[in-house]
Amino acid sequence: MSTSTIRLTKRALGIQPSATLAVDARAKALAAEGRDIVNLGVGEPDFLPPPAATEAALTAIREGFAKYTVAAGFLELRQAIAEKLLVDNGLEYKPEQIVVSTGAKQALYNAFQVLCEEGDEVLIPSPYWVTYPEQVRLAGGIPVFVESDAKAGYHIEVAALEAKLTPRTRLLVLNSPCNPTGAIETPESIQAIAEFAVRHDLSIISDEIYEKLVYHGAVHKSPAAVSPEAKRRTVVVNGASKAYAMTGWRIGYAAAEPPVAKAMAEFQGHVTSNANSIAQKALLGALRGDADAVAKMVREFEARRDYTVRRLKAMPGLEVPDPQAAFYVFPTLGDLVGRKVAGKVVRNGDDLTVALLDGTGVAVVPGACFGRPDAFRISYATSMANLAKGLDRIEQALRAAK
Ligand SMILES: Cc1ncc(COP(=O)(O)O)c(C=O)c1O
Repeated sequence: MSTSTIRLTKRALGIQPSATLAVDARAKALAAEGRDIVNLGVGEPDFLPPPAATEAALTAIREGFAKYTVAAGFLELRQAIAEKLLVDNGLEYKPEQIVVSTGAKQALYNAFQVLCEEGDEVLIPSPYWVTYPEQVRLAGGIPVFVESDAKAGYHIEVAALEAKLTPRTRLLVLNSPCNPTGAIETPESIQAIAEFAVRHDLSIISDEIYEKLVYHGAVHKSPAAVSPEAKRRTVVVNGASKAYAMTGWRIGYAAAEPPVAKAMAEFQGHVTSNANSIAQKALLGALRGDADAVAKMVREFEARRDYTVRRLKAMPGLEVPDPQAAFYVFPTLGDLVGRKVAGKVVRNGDDLTVALLDGTGVAVVPGACFGRPDAFRISYATSMANLAKGLDRIEQALRAAK
């Protein structure tokens, strides 16, 4: 009789489960037990998609737009994306340079798979979105983290990038605006970073998913817009999740030089084929719809951002940066370290997260999964009433810290 068991690959065993999803699951489990939980951990807008997206999807369903499209997405959508990139970002792409995917996440995965060779080092500014190191490792690459200073607003320093270069460095991941910090690089900083990449012959994967969520006059610039040389080596990634509050639709895209786009489309062709045809139509609707829905959401996020930052800055024990984009604040623990919050000694962000959830019923995300164990992430993608309730509880717990 065979005694063999199913054996998982090293690749599978090496994957770190997503800590952001774990917090969400724990908060939901506590809520299901009847606890009054305020969830400030979520990473998705609490708005409806623009009506134009919903209408386009309903029409597509009724009209039976239910067949395979070409793997890269149907032509009219890729034309609309090319138009968006020209109008919003000053970037000229042909439709054959666009690949539509199942979320920006798949676009990023495709990009790492076609650009990252076994053993290549990939520079990832830290704090970073949890998925980048995992996707780099799945492509056989080695993530190399480049720290930034919380006190300086987590901005990326070219000198810090230079310090991590080796002969094996091949790629740079740029995420401006950034999850988890809410930082956005100025156009001048983007220029310096893109010039650094050109100087050292690096490719750039630029995740611009939060581009529309910018506040108080902050300006988003794509590194691809810096120069033709920078554009040639950049893969621009974007999607509908954040700008159009369409996380569940799973629709995103990438734009790149023709051979790179072709490789990504062929790669995707063997993994998932085209992104969902109805979601493609919904994205087309969102892109063609009027910009008012997005502008309204951005104004609401800006008001919440101001409120959240003001409240957090008034709390003892925290150091709170001034994020200008996305919908996150990423405070570090100041003199809270070593003190007791809600009965638990807090040494780092993990401890504070557990203390806040168990002791006050507020869910936040520990900073360790973003590369900063001394920090935690608060999302203001929730109503003002919920924010006020959650921040009241956090403040009470921090004021009572011993
Ligand atoms: C920085 C960043 N990039 C990409 C994504 C994923 O986007 P999508 O939902 O389009 O896959 C997220 C989602 O949280 C994100 O925060």
